[in-house]
Parts: sequence; C-alpha cells; structure tokens
Amino acid sequence: MRTQVAIIGSGPAGLLLGQLLHKRGIDTVILENRTKDYVLARVRAGVLEQGTVDLLDAVGLGARMHREGLVHDGTELCFDGRRHRIDFRELTGKTVMVYGQTEVTRDLMDGRDAAGLTTVYGAEGVALHDVASERPRVTYMKNGVPQELVCDFIAGCDGFHGPSRQAIPSSVLKTYERVYPFGWLGVLSETPPVSDELIYANHERGFALCSMRSMTRSRYYIQCRLDEKESEWSDDRFWDELKRRLDDEAASTIVTGPSIEKSIAPLRSFVAEPMRHGKLFLAGDSAHIVPPTGAKGLNLAASDVHYLANALAEFYGEKSSAGIDAYSQTALARVWKSVRFSWWMTMLMHRFPDTQPFDYQMQVSELDYLVNSKAAMTVLAENYVGLPF
Ligand code: APR
Ligand code: PHB
Repeated sequence: MRTQVAIIGSGPAGLLLGQLLHKRGIDTVILENRTKDYVLARVRAGVLEQGTVDLLDAVGLGARMHREGLVHDGTELCFDGRRHRIDFRELTGKTVMVYGQTEVTRDLMDGRDAAGLTTVYGAEGVALHDVASERPRVTYMKNGVPQELVCDFIAGCDGFHGPSRQAIPSSVLKTYERVYPFGWLGVLSETPPVSDELIYANHERGFALCSMRSMTRSRYYIQCRLDEKESEWSDDRFWDELKRRLDDEAASTIVTGPSIEKSIAPLRSFVAEPMRHGKLFLAGDSAHIVPPTGAKGLNLAASDVHYLANALAEFYGEKSSAGIDAYSQTALARVWKSVRFSWWMTMLMHRFPDTQPFDYQMQVSELDYLVNSKAAMTVLAENYVGLPF
C-alpha cells in the first residue's frame, strides 16, 4: 500500500491531522493498533480552546459540538472554603467549549469514514523504517498477514507509549520530564453538575475538580496517592472526600450517585525534542504530556497538527520545505508555554507529600493575590482559554 502521509494513531491528533490534510487534497492512511470501540471507550478531559473549536469547524465537523457542547465564560477557584470566579470573557474576550474528548474523537472518526478515508484498526506490530531516507515506510501485521505502507512522510500521533518517538535516534532525541507524586481519582456519574462552570479546589486534604460532560453527566476528581487503588474507594467514600474539599455551598448541594466510571491516572509533564526527524513528525501525546490541571492535552494535539498540516500543504502545494523545516521549533514554542501553565496550575493547586505549613500558606497567599488582581486573573485566563496558534 502507498500513501502521501502515513499517520500512526487514531486519537484526536491523528484523526484531526487526517481531516486537515484531506481538506487540502493530501492522501493519508491511519494505522491504529486498537479497535475503534477501544479508542472511543477512553474517558478523557474535554475543555476545548477556541483554536481547537475553529479547527473542528474548519474541517466541517463542529456541528454536534456546537449543538451539544457547553460554552463556558469562566471557571471558579475554591480555597479557604470560598469560591472565586475567573471571568474569561471579561478578561480576554474568549470562552472555552466543554465537549468530551470521546465526542471529539467520535465526530472525527465519523468524518473520516464519511470521506471514505482509510483507517486500519487492529494494526499490530507497527514499525517505522528508514524515517531519515527518501523512502520511509511503515510495516505492521493485520489478521496475521504482514503489511507494508510506503509513504512520503510519517506522522507519529501514537501517544506517549507509541513507537514513533522511539524511532528518533537516542543521540538526537532530548527529553524533559517531571513526574508528580500523586494521582487523580476520577469518577463519572449520571448526575447534574454541582455548578454551571468548573470548580478547581485547593484544600489542605488535597486538590479536587468539579467538571462535567453535559448538564446531566458530571466528572469529578480528587487528588490521591499513587499507591492507592480504585477498589479502595467506594462511591460513598469518594463523595464524602470530595465534599470535604469543596466550599459549604457546593458540598451541600452536590447531587451524588453511582459511579459509571472510576479510575486513577498519574500526572506527569513530559516534552521530547525535536518533534521532527527526517520524514517523521511527532504530534500530540507522542511528543508531550501535560498534567490535566490546565486541560491542555487535547488542545496541544490540535495546535501541533494545525502547524503540521500547514507545513505539509506548503510542501505539496508550493514545493517548499520551509514549513516542515520549521515545524518542530514552531510547535515546541507553543508546547512549552502550555507545559509551563499546566505545571504552574498543578504546583498551585495540589498538596505535595513534603508540603510544610509554610508551603500551604504560600499557595493560599498566591491564590488570594490572584483572585484580587485583575492582572493576575488575566494571566491565568489567557493561558486557560489558549494562547494564539
Ligand atoms: N500502533 C498503532 N497505534 C498506536 C500504537 C501502536 N504501537 N500505540 C498507540 N497507538 C494509538 C493509541 O491506541 C491511540 O489511539 O495511538 C493513539 C494515540 O492517541 P492519544 O493517546 O489520544 O494521543 P493524541 O491523539 O496525541 O491525543 C492527545 O489524548 O491522551 C489524551 O490527554 C491526552 O487529551 C490528550 C489527547
Ligand atoms: C474533565 O472534564 O475531565 C477535565 C476538565 C478540566 C481539567 C481536567 C479534566 O483541567
């Protein structure tokens, strides 16, 4: 088989890249090792920056998002038993769209199918070959039969654990990492959200987040230790702990119910440089991971593929390599700013094992300063709604 751009991974990065390239008449094949249902079963954050919303509109797949998504003008920070609103619209003129990543993925998959584009699900043993040559190729097994995909370029959209980043020689690749000493225990419930907007809570017992998927389906998180297991957290224990970390009003009005999903996720910051080696380009989680505190993961995948699609369109359309030569530097400039913001939000809102009373006072003091300073709230708001692409 042959294509112009071989895309590894059928997550948001790979799917959105495929649609952006299709819009420009560039042929792609996506190789995905899991099944479509497995990919869709992943529960992930869904706060979309305006830039991400615009990209889904640009590929003609924004209709359901606008119909079912929730536009949020702000968010609330909760500390010292009180909630303080950060008004994105007033401070930046921008908003965010709350629309689950699963739904974004579903819309992109439907759009790819409708366009008759090829995705090979169940592609096993995907391996990249000759990525620095003029004839890169990808091999894999499908139903036990060896297959080869010859291409002009490879887009490694295969997430943190995929093979693409490993195809960059260790003598070339430089990685940066911070692993946080705690996790997030998340619960999904068919209950109305406790508030119309998200609540990020800093409490002496640990961080908590009140989010949502719709006005009837809520997503809640509490910070937990990395050695804890979901089985140790009954629904009742989860709800009791969440209420202890919220203000009195939220704790007294929250509607609890049975969890339909419960999982613990670790938190890390990670960046790999460069995001290009020869004919291989990394995009999304294959190149960087952010703690979910700033809701940046999906949005960074979107800005990466925005830059990459433009660069590849320039190559095929204008026979210019300027864009692909600049891709890594361009993408990393925005990646590092989002990595910094996600790290800053995580350091501000969580209780670290070695946190001393002084350290907690510093967090509360910074939060108190922030919610009483228009300048400080504007800094948070412009990073949260998304820096320019
Ligand atoms: N072969 C083929 N496909 C693979 C392989 C492999 N060896 N390894 C991983 N994949 C697939 C995964 O099954 C997944 O569907 O690559 C896809 C990567 O998708 P994501 O992990 O969702 O990463 P990305 O598309 O970059 O989206 C980033 O997803 O993980 C969240 O928080 C993250 O919101 C962010 C977004
Ligand atoms: C979520 O809804 O899952 C979510 C929202 C915002 C975050 C993280 C997760 O910062």
